[in-house]
Amino acid sequence: MEVASRPIRVQSIAQNGTAPQVPPEYIQPPETRPNNPTARPANNNPIPSIDLNSAVRDADFLRTEIGAACRDWGAFHVTNHGVPPKLLGEVRRVGRTFFEACPMDEKLRYSCDTSGAATEGYGSRMLVASNDTVLDWRDYFDHHTLPVSRRDPSRWPQFPPDYREVMVEYSDHMKALAQKLLGLISESLGLPSSCIEEAVGEFYQNISINYYPPCPQPDLTLGLQAHSDMGAITLLIQDDVGGLQVFKDDEWITVDPLSDAIFVILSDQTEIISNGKYRSAQHRAITNGSRARLSVSTFHDPAKTKAISPAFEPPKYHTAIYGDYVLSWYSNGPEGKRNIDALLI
Ligand code: OGA
Ligand code: NI
Repeated sequence: MEVASRPIRVQSIAQNGTAPQVPPEYIQPPETRPNNPTARPANNNPIPSIDLNSAVRDADFLRTEIGAACRDWGAFHVTNHGVPPKLLGEVRRVGRTFFEACPMDEKLRYSCDTSGAATEGYGSRMLVASNDTVLDWRDYFDHHTLPVSRRDPSRWPQFPPDYREVMVEYSDHMKALAQKLLGLISESLGLPSSCIEEAVGEFYQNISINYYPPCPQPDLTLGLQAHSDMGAITLLIQDDVGGLQVFKDDEWITVDPLSDAIFVILSDQTEIISNGKYRSAQHRAITNGSRARLSVSTFHDPAKTKAISPAFEPPKYHTAIYGDYVLSWYSNGPEGKRNIDALLI
């Protein structure tokens, strides 16, 4: 008789209180452990925070500020972004309620297939044969939210009862903010405001709620290994636990949680369209020994059939079909930036 194996979730391992040590497949080799190199303490955090309030901001100055943040960091906070702070709190609340108040068997009804490219639902990365990558100390729920034709809230949790409604509202707000930011980023490059958005085409938007259970060995693990995001632009919110880090000048710098702000991460396709004038940010998440952490990443990607090429001459990157780029990302793994570097001319 075949015994169906129960999918593994980090939360079940973490709640198995008899295990003071993490399983070996979650242990990072010394060179990628969180303290090598040491992250700069959060209170020195120089990551730019940009006020988008157009009523009081000089438009030229705002574009200059955005351009500098994109060039120097590829990532920055935005405040006065137009998304109601109450909605940010609600997204964190419904996410936390699903992960913490639903029994595991109920959550596993939403399991996604974790063996291949990300599909919608509740998951955790698993080891794939012949791939010796270390696992992330993270579970997630991935939602396909745009185009509206892919959006099917009946595949999302029903508990808490307002979960689906909150996610739909959040999806629409994130789309509007992504459009506004890509407009400002285009202008900061001296391009027409619509340039990057037109190059990306209709947004394929996915929202991942990331849940990082407390980890008994935070010095040996990562919540999410170093990577740059594959699409055009990612908008991330986190709770007050902290753990997101950005790599700059050979150092991992912790991104201070700012509860009403939204963290903007330039992704690989924007680097290509900008012809390398702006770089996608390498980032990772570390784990926490005592508190569970929640973050919500909203990815805006081109259609898989879309060809992406630089908006400047001479091009420094080869044109690539986005779907091919995604396949190579999944077969090579995300480590560092080797996927985008392979497109350099
Ligand atoms: C991601 C990501 C970081 C975090 O989802 O791609 O980088 O802090 N998340 O959860
Ligand atoms: Ni990311």
